[in-house]
Amino acid sequence: MLQLQKALDGGAATIYQHGLSVRNIITERDDVSFRSQPPAPARLNRCQLFGPGSRPALFEKMAASAADVINLDLEDSVAPDDKEQARRNIIEAIGDIDWGTKTLSVRINGLDTPFWYRDVVDLLEQAGARLDQIMIPKVGCAADLYAVDALVTAVEAAKGRDKRIAFEVIIESAAGISHVEEIATGSPRLQAMSLGAADFAASMGMATTGIGGTQENYYMLHDGQRHWSDPWHWAQAAIVAACRTHGLLPVDGPFGDFSDDEGFRAQARRSATLGMVGKWAIHPKQVGLANEVFSPSESAVSEAREILAAMELAKKTGAGATVYKGRLVDIASIRQAQVIVRQAELICT
Ligand code: COA
Ligand code: MG
Repeated sequence: MLQLQKALDGGAATIYQHGLSVRNIITERDDVSFRSQPPAPARLNRCQLFGPGSRPALFEKMAASAADVINLDLEDSVAPDDKEQARRNIIEAIGDIDWGTKTLSVRINGLDTPFWYRDVVDLLEQAGARLDQIMIPKVGCAADLYAVDALVTAVEAAKGRDKRIAFEVIIESAAGISHVEEIATGSPRLQAMSLGAADFAASMGMATTGIGGTQENYYMLHDGQRHWSDPWHWAQAAIVAACRTHGLLPVDGPFGDFSDDEGFRAQARRSATLGMVGKWAIHPKQVGLANEVFSPSESAVSEAREILAAMELAKKTGAGATVYKGRLVDIASIRQAQVIVRQAELICT
């Protein structure tokens, strides 16, 4: 009842602004608790492989990789003097290279630079229809998405582009994490949200080194023993909550030390445990590691299927809970098992 009242209160404000009916407003909201949670886009996003737009020699290798998503970069891996050439390289490669069934994305420059509008205009005017997505870095509020959406919408209309470009954003600043939920509602084009650990740490003034992973000084002391905690945990959980509320894919960003496979695995496993669907790769050797962690194992899939079967049987006898391998399973277990089975089905198709 409280939730309904809150929805009505939110609705009343909107009625005043737009003259819509209460009924419309409530059914348009995706955060009221009597409606089911909106699903995230049904596509694989286990690994996003990055490569600088200024290194076109890497593009074919990226296309041949096992990454689900390709991010051609115009931002921080490209020096200011190389931005124009990198744009040209990317526009050409979008049309020339066979990207298979991968999601093809270009990371544009941040809205605090003089480069971003030209990135958007040139890409949308000149790149072929194969481009799927634009990644917007350093997003700080929902209005950032509105600005890019307005520009993209105008160029799409002017050029008669039929395929609507999707957005992904990086949460990598104090403002971004403070406004994470409003950002999640910032544009209907938005499909995915990543945590960018290095810029995030810098913006927050965190005393960290390296990009992601364990931080030497972030530990609890118990009986003289150090136990390391995860300084990225709260930001990840906030991103996952915003994404799950609004039907987006939550993704973990880069892990800088590409010689440390076990460090990457440990970080990726923590992210998967918290609900993230994938992780970036900044070197090709990280692609297999991300795919390994974010693909459910055969045993996890068969256990999930067995739980669903056990609950199906329980339902027939009118029970809402049953025992599987000596532990309680109930209707919530069905939802957990379905997450695993759905991911396995996406991988197989
Ligand atoms: N995608 C595909 N292939 C890549 C690659 C990438 N991002 N980075 C390197 N390779 C290839 C190399 O061309 C080389 O291929 P070869 O065996 O055919 O010669 C092989 O993988 C091994 O590369 P290596 O020599 O170990 O790396 P490097 O010194 O060429 O490059 C980096 C290392 C980190 C500079 C490079 O991987 C890179 O630019 N990564 C992306 C950075 C980025 O985009 N950052 C922005 C997001 S944080
Ligand atoms: Mg960054």
